[in-house]
Amino acid sequence: MFFVPELIEKKRNGGKLSKDEIRYLVEGYVKGEIPDYQMAAFLMAVYFRGMDEEETAELTLAMARSGEMVDLSAIEGVKVDKHSSGGIADTTTLVLLPLAASAGVKVAKLSGRGLGHTGGTIDKLESIPGFNTELSKEEFIRIVNEIGAAISGQSKDLVPADKKLYALRDVTATVDSIPLIASSIMSKKIACGADKIILDVKFGNGAFMKKYEDALELAKTMVKIGELAGKPTVAYVTDMDQPLGMAIGNALEIIEAAEVLKGRGHEDLLNLSLEFGAEMMRLSGIEEDKAKAREKLLENIKSGKALEKFKEIINKQGGNPGVLEDYSLLPQARFRCEVEAQEEGWIESIDALKLGLTAMKLGAGRQKKDDRIDHSVGIWLGGKIGDRVEKGKPLAVIYANDEEKLKWALKEVREAFRISPNKVEKRKLIRARITAENLEEF
Ligand code: URA
Ligand code: CA
Repeated sequence: MFFVPELIEKKRNGGKLSKDEIRYLVEGYVKGEIPDYQMAAFLMAVYFRGMDEEETAELTLAMARSGEMVDLSAIEGVKVDKHSSGGIADTTTLVLLPLAASAGVKVAKLSGRGLGHTGGTIDKLESIPGFNTELSKEEFIRIVNEIGAAISGQSKDLVPADKKLYALRDVTATVDSIPLIASSIMSKKIACGADKIILDVKFGNGAFMKKYEDALELAKTMVKIGELAGKPTVAYVTDMDQPLGMAIGNALEIIEAAEVLKGRGHEDLLNLSLEFGAEMMRLSGIEEDKAKAREKLLENIKSGKALEKFKEIINKQGGNPGVLEDYSLLPQARFRCEVEAQEEGWIESIDALKLGLTAMKLGAGRQKKDDRIDHSVGIWLGGKIGDRVEKGKPLAVIYANDEEKLKWALKEVREAFRISPNKVEKRKLIRARITAENLEEF
C-alpha cells in the first residue's frame, strides 16, 4: 500500500519512483481506485520532472500488463513488429506485410484503427471487397503459420491503461511528454506479443513530432525501453516534412502498395520498405547481411513473388485478390479532378499536414472515433520535393464524392505546393537509425 499524495509529491520534487510504486499507480488507476484528479497531478509532475529510463520501462510494462497480453508462441520463429508513429501517405505497412513474408519473415500484425488523416492499415485493407480484419485468435495464428503473414484488428482489451491515460493526457495538456509517449507506444507493441520491434519515428510538419531532435530523443527512449523489457528494438527517424508516398487515402494506398510490389512505386516508399524488410530479416535471423537481404527482397519484387504473397494474404482473409490487377474493383469516387501547375519549376515544399487534413475532410480519415471512412476518396500526388513540374501538368489528382468538398479541396491542395524557379534538392528520407549499441545519423 502506498499513499498516492506522497507518490505525486515524490515525482513533483524530482524523485525516482520504484517499480512497486509505478505499478501501484497504474493498477489503481485502471481499477478506478485512484481518481482522475490524482492521476492528472501525477502526469503533470511527470511532464515537468520526466522519468528516467528504468521508470519509463516500468511504466511501460505496468501498462502493457493492464489488459490482455497476446501470446504468439504458437507461431514458430521470431515475431518482429514494425510500428510507425503516424504520417501522411505512409503505405509502408501495406507493402512490408507481403514483402517481408515473401522472404520468410513471420508477420503477425495486430493493428489499430485510431484517428487520422487516412484510416489505419486495417481501414485501408477494408477497401478490398470481402477482406476480413476481425480474425479470431485461432484463425490469425493459423494463417500466419500457413502463409507467413496475417493482419487483424486489435482486441478491445489491449492496454486499457493506455486508453484511460491517453484520454486523461488529452484533456490535461500532458500528451507531449517523451516518457509518456514512449510508454504509450511501447506498451501496445509489447502487449501485441512482439519479440522484437522496429520503430519508424517520424518528424516534420506531417508528424506528431515536429522537430528532428525530439523525434531522435523519443526514438532513443523507446530503444532503451525495449532493451530493458527484453524486446530488442531498432528505431529509425524519418522525414515527414512531405508525404512519404504519392497516395493519401484508403483504396488509393492499396493501389500504391500494389504498384510498389509491381516495381513501379515511388523510390522513397520502396526504399523504406526495403530497409524495414531487411531489418526484419536481420532481426528474425533470416539474413544477417542487410545488403543481401535487400537484394533478396528486390528479387521478390522483380519475380512477382511479393505481389503473389499479397494476393495470398487477401485470399486467406476472404478478400478479392483480383483488386491488385484490376483497380476498378476497388471503391471508386464519383469525381476525379486534376490540380494543374500554374508555373513550371521544381517542387520546393509540400505541406504534408494540409494535404492530410484535406484528405480527412474529403472523408478518407476520422476526426471523431465513430466517424465513417469513405474508402474511395483521397489525393494522389504528381511529385515530391525536388521533382520537376511543367505548367499545366498535374501537381495532384483529387478523388471526391462531394462537389462542394472537391471545390474546396482543389484550393487547399494547390496551396499546399510551393514551386521554385530554381532547381531544388530532393530530401533525405532516413535520418537516423538507433539500436541499443549504436546511433547512426544520415
Ligand atoms: N501515439 C501513441 O500511441 N501514444 C502517444 O502518447 C502519442 C502518440
Ligand atoms: Ca499510417
